[in-house]
Amino acid sequence: MKNIIVRSLVMATTICLLSSCSTAQQPSGTTLPPTADKKILIVYLSRTNNTKAIAEFIHQKVGGTLVRLEVEKPYPENYEATVHQVARENETGFLPQLKTKIDGIEKYDVVFLGFPTWGMQLPPPMKSFLSQYSLKGKTVIPFNTNAGYGEGSSFQTVRKLCPESTVLEGFVTRGGSERDGQYLVIKEARARETQKEVEIWLRKIKIPLRETRKMPE
Ligand SMILES: Cc1cc2nc3c(=O)[nH]c(=O)nc-3n(C[C@H](O)[C@H](O)[C@H](O)COP(=O)(O)O)c2cc1C
Repeated sequence: MKNIIVRSLVMATTICLLSSCSTAQQPSGTTLPPTADKKILIVYLSRTNNTKAIAEFIHQKVGGTLVRLEVEKPYPENYEATVHQVARENETGFLPQLKTKIDGIEKYDVVFLGFPTWGMQLPPPMKSFLSQYSLKGKTVIPFNTNAGYGEGSSFQTVRKLCPESTVLEGFVTRGGSERDGQYLVIKEARARETQKEVEIWLRKIKIPLRETRKMPE
């Protein structure tokens, strides 16, 4: 009898130790996917609507709140003038005033950030956004469109401006080229193709998609 009690105690202790061990070994931060009950915010900057198209695909797939980032003083309509203004802003570190206000940013667990590449950098309005709002403790997921030169330093800047967030692998795709008169190109067949790529990426970074989300009763 005494033997049985001793053995049971040893077994219980072993199980206890094993379970606390596995909790301790849970991956922290970057590899923990957000669960289906997380609150999602999608903030994007877009001039010719390519990044907007991606933001909308993400929104269709994951739900949450979709917000277009706007500045108090809009950039010039003229492309060259905008390029010059952005170059100056990037050089001086000028942060444009935002028109967009986000109420209760604390309530979001996951924040998608969408932007085009501007001057091979993160556009100044997105730098303003990240300087104004703290995303501490949140999962941050960048996405980018560009004219074929890639995301430049934009993802690195997101990481730098979100030092206490878990920044997941971003999505990058080719958008338009205003310089060459190509505005919205993520449409029709290209939109369908990009939509599939977005879905593959979301599955890869383990974001629960709406079809598989638990809907409220
Ligand atoms: C001011 C400005 C600067 C740009 N700089 C770059 C660049 O450095 N590299 C690049 O690949 N594309 C650059 N582009 C092109 C945009 O990144 C590309 O057209 C993008 O798809 C636009 O996104 P949107 O349609 O959401 O505005 C620039 C566009 C603008 C307006």
